[in-house]
Amino acid sequence: MQTTHTLLVDVQDLKVQFSLHEGTVHALQGVSFQIQQGKTLGVIGESGSGKSVTAQALLGLIPSPPGKVVGGRVLLNLPTTPTSTRVVNLTELKPNGAELRSIRGKEISMIFQEPMTSFSPVHTLGDQIMEAVRIHYPEVSKEEARQRAIEMMRRVGIPRPEERIDAYPFQFSGGMRQRAMIAMALVCNPRLVIADEPTTALDVTIEAQILDLLRDLQSEFGMSIMYISHDLTVVGSVADEVMVMYLGLVMEHAATDELFTHPLHPYTEALWRSIPTIDGDLDRLTPIRGALPSPFAVHPGCPFFSRCEKRIVGVCDTARPPMVEARPQHWVRCFLYTEQGNPPQ
Ligand SMILES: Nc1ncnc2c1ncn2[C@@H]1O[C@H](COP(=O)(O)OP(=O)(O)O)[C@@H](O)[C@H]1O
Ligand code: SF4
Ligand SMILES: [Mg+2]
Repeated sequence: MQTTHTLLVDVQDLKVQFSLHEGTVHALQGVSFQIQQGKTLGVIGESGSGKSVTAQALLGLIPSPPGKVVGGRVLLNLPTTPTSTRVVNLTELKPNGAELRSIRGKEISMIFQEPMTSFSPVHTLGDQIMEAVRIHYPEVSKEEARQRAIEMMRRVGIPRPEERIDAYPFQFSGGMRQRAMIAMALVCNPRLVIADEPTTALDVTIEAQILDLLRDLQSEFGMSIMYISHDLTVVGSVADEVMVMYLGLVMEHAATDELFTHPLHPYTEALWRSIPTIDGDLDRLTPIRGALPSPFAVHPGCPFFSRCEKRIVGVCDTARPPMVEARPQHWVRCFLYTEQGNPPQ
């Protein structure tokens, strides 16, 4: 398939572990994906599947110790001129070194779930948004940084930004604080914005407004977005493509329409059955059976084996299923789509 988009992020076989005294958490067990310029990649999966650790790896923010990147690469393509690109492997950069700090906030920025913990309570929102500009553009005057902050606050729908720029975070409602956080994430015009469950703490009306806003801003600024959520419907409404994670592995990856019309992985099907439909049809709501296995467990076979209704004993519990292209551009990690799961009759 010919692609007209340019590759921005290329994550290859990323492995991250946390060494704790109770044991080792294999948080990412070989995660690979790409993000194209100007596109939105949705990432879904239950709590503990490795979504936030993937986001942290893209920002060079894996807390170490106890965390460690034990394998793989996170390549970022940074166009330097219209015809040339500099490729940076983020896993090789010094944590908190100058290069990583120059990328974080400028090339890649982050919108978190709870802005209250991300903003400092003792500084005004305006000072914090202006600071983001001044770190990356020291040549910009204080007055100009203030103007940029006001403009971005206006753009994200904060009323009377020239007055509210001097307000403190606690003086904003949850929805307005989330807008301020988006303003801070976008004020340096990043190439990639990572949104980690940015609307989970908001009510559904405000959530819908924030999702609309992100879509508008993307068409205006052309940034790529990695949108993380445990909610399939939210991801479906914003993402061009979706990857489904489970216990530190990508289980399925396809364009959003393809994934919604032809979910292939038993885990994706189970996730799909566990959410209410848009018209509120709760009849079909079935929680995924079984609990997430312990994060310390090491699985010789498919990590979903203990909960899977379609498991094949003797196949699925013996080796890790490979990622296969079961339909065009639709990848799935499950033996049902391999020869091992379909022996000749
Ligand atoms: N700082 C940390 N210390 C120890 N374990 C961690 C840390 N951060 C994440 N983990 C573990 O890594 C796994 C993946 O976590 P995470 O990426 O936060 O999941 P998700 O965002 O999908 O809910 C979980 O088992 C979690 O307990
Ligand atoms: S590999 Fe087997 S256990 Fe895993 S999801 Fe597929 S059918 Fe289920
Ligand atoms: Mg998370």
